[in-house]
Amino acid sequence: MSTWLVTGGAGFIGSNFVRRAVRETDNHLVVIDALTYAGNLRSIADLVEQRRITFEKGDVCDVEIVRALFTKHRFDRVIHFAAESHVDRSILGPLPFIRTNVEGTANLLEAARSAWDRRPNDVLFLHVSTDEVYGSLDPDDPPFNEDSPYRPNSPYAASKAAADHMARAWCHTYGLPVVVSNCSNNYGPLQFPEKLIPLMILNAMEGRELPVYGDGGQVRDWLHVEDHCQALLLLLERGRPGATYVIGGECERTNLQIVGRVCECVDHLLEREPGTSARLIRHVTDRPGHDRRYAMDPSRLRTETGWTPRFALEESLPDLVRWYFDHRQWADEIRTGAYRDFYDQLYGNR
Ligand code: NAD
Ligand code: TYD
Repeated sequence: MSTWLVTGGAGFIGSNFVRRAVRETDNHLVVIDALTYAGNLRSIADLVEQRRITFEKGDVCDVEIVRALFTKHRFDRVIHFAAESHVDRSILGPLPFIRTNVEGTANLLEAARSAWDRRPNDVLFLHVSTDEVYGSLDPDDPPFNEDSPYRPNSPYAASKAAADHMARAWCHTYGLPVVVSNCSNNYGPLQFPEKLIPLMILNAMEGRELPVYGDGGQVRDWLHVEDHCQALLLLLERGRPGATYVIGGECERTNLQIVGRVCECVDHLLEREPGTSARLIRHVTDRPGHDRRYAMDPSRLRTETGWTPRFALEESLPDLVRWYFDHRQWADEIRTGAYRDFYDQLYGNR
């Protein structure tokens, strides 16, 4: 049995990863999460109560807390999810992104370097990152791969790019065994309802406007969170230290296609007249610096680990809409006053 440190394990992808790792492995998982607006202990509370995992509330930027964790536990793996992750928030206020994504990552790399000084061969630091570090593609460009140049366009993407560069540098300079993964947009249960798909599902169910930025022709490459977590579990076993792996669903859709399919699923579930939810679509002022298209070529991941995604987007969306319908209480509890204030700030004058 080995011991894994999971940062940001109360967030969207982190909590899905923790649930899956508990189901499929017998490793001891220690989660550190600051429980920001995006972190929700309820997403993993049952596992904490059953003592299947250990939970520490803490900030990854806190040198003492992180060092104490590495002293208390003999970690074999670090899976680093903790981040400020919402592009729109990074445009409204970039500094928290620099702090958590840049300083927090440096702090974790330093703690791992110090703790793993004498055992570099049986440990691994998996740094979970995003396709957004590569910038935006034109319609006819080939998808991004591991050799694509870094061209981050938003403060969020720039902060993740900085973190990726540090992960690489700690490997190159100190020999810290690091794998970096860059994944495309995820969808699935437990996603905070500020991101496109859960926001549209909940607004459509509640008969509220569906705010589509600009012409809605922006393209994202969608991957189910379970397929992302499966890729990460494979990389923990087979990832080559020092290597980067691109992860993506090879499922490019425009935002209007996504919103349209969500509307169909909501109408079907709630037995509404077809077209009811689509009438809620409102085109609003575009996001500043909005990336037009992302797409990923996961050939290296497939070849080296045998990974294949199992979920198809169009077939998965009805189940996902049903999940948000069945978990309205989960969503209501996190859409607090602070959520509504943020919503008004972002959409109020668009
Ligand atoms: P999320 O915003 O849902 O969750 C982030 C988690 O990190 C939350 O639980 C939050 O409380 C925690 N956190 C934030 N600041 C912290 C700090 N200073 N100390 C400790 N914990 C802190 O994000 P997500 O969508 O689950 O993304 C997880 C990771 O995956 C991020 O690094 C993100 O860049 C990357 N990623 C996300 C996507 C996507 O589509 N969501 C795609 C590719 C990569
Ligand atoms: P988002 O979920 O914020 O992910 P990212 O910006 O990291 O790709 O947004 C996905 C796409 O949906 C992006 O092109 C912005 C767009 N979008 C809207 O059109 N309306 C919205 O209300 C939101 C939240 C996003």
